Amino acid sequence: MEPLKIGLIGCGGISGAHMRAYREHPDKVRLVAVCDVVEANARRRAAELGGVRVYTDLNQMLREADVHAVDICTIHDQHALNAIAALQAGKHVLVEKPMACSLRECRDMIAAADKTGRILMVAQMQRYDPSSQALKNIIESGELGPIRAVRIDAMQNGPEVLTGNSWLLDGHRAGGGIVISVLVHRIDLVRYLIGEITRVTAVTRCLHPAFKNGAEDYAVAMFEFANGAIGELFGTYSGFRQPYSEMFMIFGDDGAAHSVPQLGRGGGPAFVASRRRSEPFKEFNHMFQGFVPVAPEPGSLPSGNPFVNELLHFSDCCRTGREPLSSGRDNLGTMKAIFGIYESARRGSSVELKDI
Ligand SMILES: NC(=O)c1ccc[n+]([C@@H]2O[C@H](COP(=O)([O-])OP(=O)(O)OC[C@H]3O[C@@H](n4cnc5c(N)ncnc54)[C@H](O)[C@@H]3O)[C@@H](O)[C@H]2O)c1
Repeated sequence: MEPLKIGLIGCGGISGAHMRAYREHPDKVRLVAVCDVVEANARRRAAELGGVRVYTDLNQMLREADVHAVDICTIHDQHALNAIAALQAGKHVLVEKPMACSLRECRDMIAAADKTGRILMVAQMQRYDPSSQALKNIIESGELGPIRAVRIDAMQNGPEVLTGNSWLLDGHRAGGGIVISVLVHRIDLVRYLIGEITRVTAVTRCLHPAFKNGAEDYAVAMFEFANGAIGELFGTYSGFRQPYSEMFMIFGDDGAAHSVPQLGRGGGPAFVASRRRSEPFKEFNHMFQGFVPVAPEPGSLPSGNPFVNELLHFSDCCRTGREPLSSGRDNLGTMKAIFGIYESARRGSSVELKDI
């Protein structure tokens, strides 16, 4: 079977993580072209593989290169522009998180995919982590009982690790701050694990002078889920000497799950406790005594690497026409939660996500 021929748009930091799939699975996903407005970045990625054409103009790449699909790794304010141009040129689209900088842009992307009959998938890599999929199976089996509550957080010190002119510090280019750039991962993961968020109530602050144009560096929010569960979110982008970490906790009647923050890494492995699976602790000498690691079933996914799994899932969907697990249509729910947080913080009242 012919591999899916792909053009990579945006050859900065995260594109490096996507390259592993192109190196290891050229029979399924073959990188044939790269494009970056900074030619040196495009050339650097092209040099990692042989026979890759280099472009600095997306429209020229879409006209000239023999690609079935594009892999968009550009900055947030370019996602909708890049995706709609590619869809209109008849290409399937994988776009890095967050989907785009407004709900209007997200809906325009979905409409373009519907009109052209092409696949639109958002690269929500945490869903393609074997540990996330194993936990999803555990929750769906009913082992944890009805899910009652979740907590999520993401914490880091952006001003110390991002350079002074990083686009992530600029609300116009990033679409916001810690919520859209980082918490998007955990919001999407809990939607995947326990279902749709229906209502949010939030407060955000833009305090550290490194952040501009409304990029919030603190956020707190409450969620209500369609299944009746409640949730809490905390994020800081400027925590004093705060290493990068992300966490979730899920509480059910018959079990619970949590992830351990791992320094320098977004997600961490998941742990689970349940009546069926683990022993109650006898002495309270560790916060997570009684929890055991979530063990993915061997062979359940092609790789232990979520980025590789994500790209292989994308190629499979392009080939079969199947709706991706993190399709544009699905990810509108994640983006509604994010823009619901911003709207709630602006209004000072709760926001029903069905109304936005
Ligand atoms: N999944 C993850 O864990 C993860 C981690 C980091 C970043 N990301 C996401 O990946 C995307 C890129 O982030 P990054 O850290 O790689 O940023 P980056 O700044 O390192 O790279 C972005 C690249 O895009 C190029 N670019 C910008 N506009 C362009 C355009 N119109 N056409 C072509 N090239 C263009 C830039 O020159 C740069 O090389 C963002 O959406 C970000 O949120 C995801």
